[in-house]
Amino acid sequence: MIMETCRDKAKIRVRIAKSSDLDDIYELDMQTFAMPWSKEALSYDILENDNAFVIVAEYEGEFAGYADIWTVLDEADLNSIAVRVDFRRKGIGDAIMLAMTEILSANGVATINLEVRVSNMPAIKLYKKYGFNECGVRPGYYLDNGEDALIMKRETGGYA
Ligand SMILES: CC(C)(COP(=O)(O)OP(=O)(O)OC[C@H]1O[C@@H](n2cnc3c(N)ncnc32)[C@H](O)[C@@H]1OP(=O)(O)O)[C@@H](O)C(=O)NCCC(=O)NCCS
Repeated sequence: MIMETCRDKAKIRVRIAKSSDLDDIYELDMQTFAMPWSKEALSYDILENDNAFVIVAEYEGEFAGYADIWTVLDEADLNSIAVRVDFRRKGIGDAIMLAMTEILSANGVATINLEVRVSNMPAIKLYKKYGFNECGVRPGYYLDNGEDALIMKRETGGYA
């Protein structure tokens, strides 16, 4: 599937990931997360997994962020979203979330689920902005420090 979304005003371009994005995504994942995914897992989602969407954002042509999403029937899981530290607070997270909801909606997805660390205020605020609601807690979900996960869900029509 090829789908591209251009947001000229903000110099941000959002598109589906390709094989040449793998190193950038892997490096960002390693820098961002305490429990990063393996290169093999990321590669599988970019190249082979028919139930995955990997979205890349560029800022003025430079790799700036990504999101990895899995779908099962009419539900999706947002596995990860990350923006490079030097590109944060420029609207790239916004652009990725907008592209994700557009792509998933076009593919018949009605519900998006995610887990987020209870301490991760920037991400929780981003998710709430795009219509995700808190719907539970998984105690001790994150193995690196035993932190709880907040479970959030977005039903179609949740973004006003
Ligand atoms: C969460 C993250 C993706 C946001 O990306 P970003 O490009 O900086 O976000 P944007 O500039 O598009 O901001 C969009 C919204 O996110 C929220 N937000 C982003 N950064 C924030 C911060 N530091 N404090 C509070 N809210 C924040 C706000 O709601 C913001 O909307 P607003 O500007 O209207 O207030 C980025 O901080 C990141 O990569 N964090 C590390 C990875 C991570 O924690 N991912 C989530 C778990 S998988």
